Amino acid sequence: MIVDYKDVNDLNRYKMMSDTVVPRPIAWIVTEDNGIINAAPFSYFVPLSSNPPVVIVSIGKKEDGTPKDTLYNILKHKKATICFVNKNSCEEVKNCAMPLDKNESEVETYNIDVQKVLEDFPAMIASTQTALFCEFYKTVDLPGKTTPVILEVKKQFIEEGRLDEKSHVHIDNVGRSGAFFKAMVDL
Ligand SMILES: Cc1cc2nc3c(=O)[nH]c(=O)nc-3n(C[C@H](O)[C@H](O)[C@H](O)COP(=O)(O)O)c2cc1C
Repeated sequence: MIVDYKDVNDLNRYKMMSDTVVPRPIAWIVTEDNGIINAAPFSYFVPLSSNPPVVIVSIGKKEDGTPKDTLYNILKHKKATICFVNKNSCEEVKNCAMPLDKNESEVETYNIDVQKVLEDFPAMIASTQTALFCEFYKTVDLPGKTTPVILEVKKQFIEEGRLDEKSHVHIDNVGRSGAFFKAMVDL
């Protein structure tokens, strides 16, 4: 069958696209504002280029139409730390997807350990095996409720023993597949 996207409503189009473009990596993004550490997962997320080293993440609006805290903080402070999800952190990630008040921190509410590894970037989720320390590059104009944000990777944390002598990184990421989390398997 051929589905004509103009005949599908927004919610069903979202379900069809996010069940189809799988598995998607999850950017578990940490930002800061007024000393409050915000952490939230985003799976409309991909690398765009390695030179310049940029990734793109699409951030929607809150129910009330205001920008999600992550977007607000990135546009204000121009910094984001992208962490990655592994089998042990799925529950924490699910918690971080729940809408909290702007002045409430997910990491405090859900007791998530963070580590400040670089003074000039937001803290990193302590359990992540790798993290990308990014600066705001630009937003992309798109009609509708979503703001695609391009971020430039400035530095990367790689847990001890995960970078080999040929510059390959070995991590056990969990990705998004429809409404589910999926771990990677070797074939
Ligand atoms: C695995 C996963 C992936 C998500 N991907 C996105 C996404 O790509 N874009 C988006 O706007 N929201 C996404 N969400 C929902 C946000 O995480 C959620 O709206 C969160 O409350 C935003 O938090 P903030 O207001 O602190 O930025 C996702 C949720 C989960 C669990």
